[in-house]
Amino acid sequence: MLLTNFYNWFNRNKLRAVHELDYPQEISGIRLRFKRRRNDWQPHLNQTKKIILQGVEYCTQRRKAVLIGAALLHDIPLEELASQFREVLLIDVYHPFWSFLKNRRFRNVFRINFDITEYIDLLVKSNVEESLPLVPLSKLYLEDPEIDLVVSVNVLSQLPCMPIRFLEKNQPRTEQELDQLAKDLILAHLSYLDLFSCQVVLITDIEMQTINVMNNVVARKDLMYGINIFEDKVSSLSHSATAEFDRIPTNRTDYQEWEWRLAPCPEVNSKFSYFRKVVGFTDWKKYRLKSSA
Ligand SMILES: C[S@@+](CC[C@H](N)C(=O)[O-])C[C@H]1O[C@@H](n2cnc3c(N)ncnc32)[C@H](O)[C@@H]1O
Repeated sequence: MLLTNFYNWFNRNKLRAVHELDYPQEISGIRLRFKRRRNDWQPHLNQTKKIILQGVEYCTQRRKAVLIGAALLHDIPLEELASQFREVLLIDVYHPFWSFLKNRRFRNVFRINFDITEYIDLLVKSNVEESLPLVPLSKLYLEDPEIDLVVSVNVLSQLPCMPIRFLEKNQPRTEQELDQLAKDLILAHLSYLDLFSCQVVLITDIEMQTINVMNNVVARKDLMYGINIFEDKVSSLSHSATAEFDRIPTNRTDYQEWEWRLAPCPEVNSKFSYFRKVVGFTDWKKYRLKSSA
């Protein structure tokens, strides 16, 4: 609890960056779209919750669970987590007031305001005359030996969005610079997840699909900016950990894939629907070991 207050106090100074990058408005937009599209979103939200709970089954201890990108709580099985873990730590760059209303009945659930890229503050202080600041590696909770579960919940593809929008509006940068920044933000988050020794669950959308009225996919956008999260080699996992790999049941290193009907026609456009391809890994670290073996 003390630590939670510390993080929130420390991050008060970064509130300016959060507002300058329009996160509160973005979150409010997601909430409004969810209200309009609740039925279309439900299979995706249920699937996300299922993957998180499958990950929980592999936790040998249940002291602290960390959920990154949790603000709106649509896709978080909060009740189950709160009853199984001693503490549930919800991390988001911005927590809207209404999420407080949802979690106030759980005394062991804490909301922590934190930019998991640790970048947006550097960005608003940057200057167009200089090159972009380098993306750091987050250290949040890496030193806490009581963390037994880390879940990255539909946040990975979002990490570059607001920084890039901010740059497009405020600092002319080349397309190459923007692409490189997006890649660096995504890779830094994957490397951060690699550094935990506990159970790690990763759920992320990886592709945006444009679908016409005949139900054909007419365009695809790679939300991972060319990073192949299925195959890119592990960088920071210790080599000795691979010895453990043989004893892991196969299904534990698999992933599941599904569709998120984000904006069916005419939500955004009268001719096209916009869907997302989502993947969920119940045991992301073991999957990384397997793909690098
Ligand atoms: C698509 S939403 C995830 C779904 C959300 N859990 C829900 O219930 O609808 C992405 C979330 O990631 C958060 N986010 C984006 N960039 C972030 C960052 N740099 N640090 C922490 N959270 C971030 C957003 O504020 C947002 O709440």
